[in-house]
Amino acid sequence: MIVIESAAAMQQQALAWRAAGEEVGLVPTMGAIHAGHQSLVSRAKRENQRVVVSVFVNPKQFGPHEDLASYPRSFERDRARLEQLGVDVLFHPQVDQIYPPSFRTQVDPGPWAERLEGRSRPGHFAGVLTVVLKLFEVTQPKRAYFGQKDIQQLLLVRQMVRDFMLPVRVVGCPTVREPDGLAMSSRNAYLTAEQRAAAPALHQALTSASEAYRSGVTHPEQLERQVRERLGQVPDLAVDYAQVFSEDTLERPQQVRPGDVLAIAVKLGSTRLIDNVVFGADRL
Ligand code: PAJ
Repeated sequence: MIVIESAAAMQQQALAWRAAGEEVGLVPTMGAIHAGHQSLVSRAKRENQRVVVSVFVNPKQFGPHEDLASYPRSFERDRARLEQLGVDVLFHPQVDQIYPPSFRTQVDPGPWAERLEGRSRPGHFAGVLTVVLKLFEVTQPKRAYFGQKDIQQLLLVRQMVRDFMLPVRVVGCPTVREPDGLAMSSRNAYLTAEQRAAAPALHQALTSASEAYRSGVTHPEQLERQVRERLGQVPDLAVDYAQVFSEDTLERPQQVRPGDVLAIAVKLGSTRLIDNVVFGADRL
């Protein structure tokens, strides 16, 4: 595995692979590599001749009161893990490689970015799509891998790819969980022991909503209420949203259909956690 820090050198490598007919799979990350990231990398390894993983904590997707400064950084450990997985290139740019002082243009993510996550995190998805578009240009992927855990991000990236006709296939990958059901996340490291013990409530609330749907409950509000009530029992937890939406409109449907999503965001103490379930899917 080689580590590339320069965007120009990364793009040169990607173009050379392309000229040689080798397909690139890209896994964009902000580092603090965990089993969720690793599952994306393993899939990329299976499906592409070359795999690039980017590790870049993207300042543009953090709000002024968010955790940019404290976001977990563990580069040496990440490098060892990615090397073991057989990654070809670890792209690890400094901020000025991606955003030099002359940088001006940003992606406008459109109206979907104002919903759900975007309501609490204004500007977040403009920052995400801007960096993802740059990473696509720099690494020239045939396929790019994104986790289902960040479902709104996945849907917005898909939309950008359609809208801008980008020659990239966006591959959505299932959420990897701890044995007790908590979705893996770099931010889980912020939780105190008590909060960590309470955190599986998110998955439990989603699982019981999914079971209620399976047993015939199809009213979105009823499923949302059930989730809120379950989460309301957890001390130190505030629900930001619990909402059913359909993947092609991001609007709440009249009746839940297979493929619709229930997404939640909570604050457990000061840590923001998100999770979701797709109704009628085999797994959460
Ligand atoms: P990050 O939070 O590091 O996540 C990188 C990728 O891993 C995302 O596609 C995310 O959905 C996926 N992922 C995270 N936890 C997962 C889990 N438990 N199971 C499966 N996949 C999981 O998401 C970002 O970084 C950034 O917004 C980024 C796309 C890199 C742009 O800066």
